[in-house]
Amino acid sequence: MILAAILAGGTGTRFGSASMPKQFLELGSKPILVHTVEKFLVHPAVEHVAVLTPRAWLSHSESILAAACGADAAVTVLEGGETRNGTLRRALDFVEERFGKEQAHTLLTHDAVRPFVTHRIISDNIEAAQTHGACDTVIAATDTIVESEDGRFISSIPERRRMFQGQTPQSFDAKKLRRLMDSLSPAEETALTDACKIFALRGEPVALVNGETNNIKITYPYDLQVAQTLLGD
Ligand code: CTP
Repeated sequence: MILAAILAGGTGTRFGSASMPKQFLELGSKPILVHTVEKFLVHPAVEHVAVLTPRAWLSHSESILAAACGADAAVTVLEGGETRNGTLRRALDFVEERFGKEQAHTLLTHDAVRPFVTHRIISDNIEAAQTHGACDTVIAATDTIVESEDGRFISSIPERRRMFQGQTPQSFDAKKLRRLMDSLSPAEETALTDACKIFALRGEPVALVNGETNNIKITYPYDLQVAQTLLGD
């Protein structure tokens, strides 16, 4: 099966919204989370969408998604984890429990707060994950990336043409992701906060999929203003 996991388990500390986590704020006429889920639901290849949210927001998520997508949409709302990686693990557990551990599944994982993901990006993720086992959505770095070990002085300046900025989706062959996650030592487990890094560490290929400049992540209030402008275009 081809499934999407929408990672909406964060609390948005950098955004600083007092009333609700940023993924539930309105963008245009509907919550950011609804925009994002709809992008996957309307893609004909995506068969099921799991939405992982903080426990306190489970019923709110269920009701906004049922109102927007219909009560019988192929959407399951689940509790996320303490960290983004913990949320990803729960998504993988769900896929195995609901759709079978032995079957082959393609799992697209996407930040709930990237509502401008496109049909093309989703299609390219499916193809790349099915061909290579894993893929990451990226755009070429436009600024020079400067590395600093201590945050005070430059340690290196990598060549810009080799630098990319990571977006989402990140998509995986679910069985392969499980096998690699299970192979992590406790120390690796805490250090490896990005699922694509697990593949890279074990020497497994992660294909690059072209993202879009517009596929922004809403992190700060400024990003929501940018998103409102993009929506108006
Ligand atoms: N996320 C998640 N589970 C967590 C933490 C984050 O599913 N335990 C999700 C967020 O909901 C978001 C995505 O991962 O859709 C990207 O993370 P980020 O923008 O860092 O979101 P937050 O963790 O909510 O924000 P902050 O880091 O400012 O607290």
